[in-house]
Amino acid sequence: MKNETTLLMIKPDAVQRALIGRIIARVEDKGFKIVGLRLVQLTEVNVDRLYDIHIGKDFYPLLKSFILSGPVVAIAIQGNNAVKVIRKLAGITNSPEAEPGTIRGDFGLDLTKNIIHASDQVERAKYELSVFFKDDELVTYKLITENWVN
Ligand code: CMP
Repeated sequence: MKNETTLLMIKPDAVQRALIGRIIARVEDKGFKIVGLRLVQLTEVNVDRLYDIHIGKDFYPLLKSFILSGPVVAIAIQGNNAVKVIRKLAGITNSPEAEPGTIRGDFGLDLTKNIIHASDQVERAKYELSVFFKDDELVTYKLITENWVN
């Protein structure tokens, strides 16, 4: 068991389209534990922190204005291989090409409005989670189903 914590962010398009519940259900259905959950309107500073590696790229202005266009939901997710498995559940970045059965494959049709963001490495997840949560805001607890999942 490789217990990891990762970030999944539900983007403004999915919030507006009332997909929050269905996306969270996929995370829970897979057996993951939610250890942090927050609906937030990001500031410019925090978008730059979250997406620091994309600043300066041609698509960055569009990405930034989209993320600022409405609230997002940040979810801290814990479980076996969470980083890799959540990326798999998310599907590839470009929604129209994402496999059916994945979150982007089932709900998205656009590269910018691509429903969710998911961290791609454990260290990166730690950094991205810090944009939304202080360390003591992530909750340590046991799910009664946990031993039946891992
Ligand atoms: P996300 O996983 O949130 O990471 C960066 C985001 O930039 C990505 O999803 C896309 O929504 C957006 N984006 C827009 N254009 C591109 C591009 N050409 N390559 C990668 N990401 C892009």
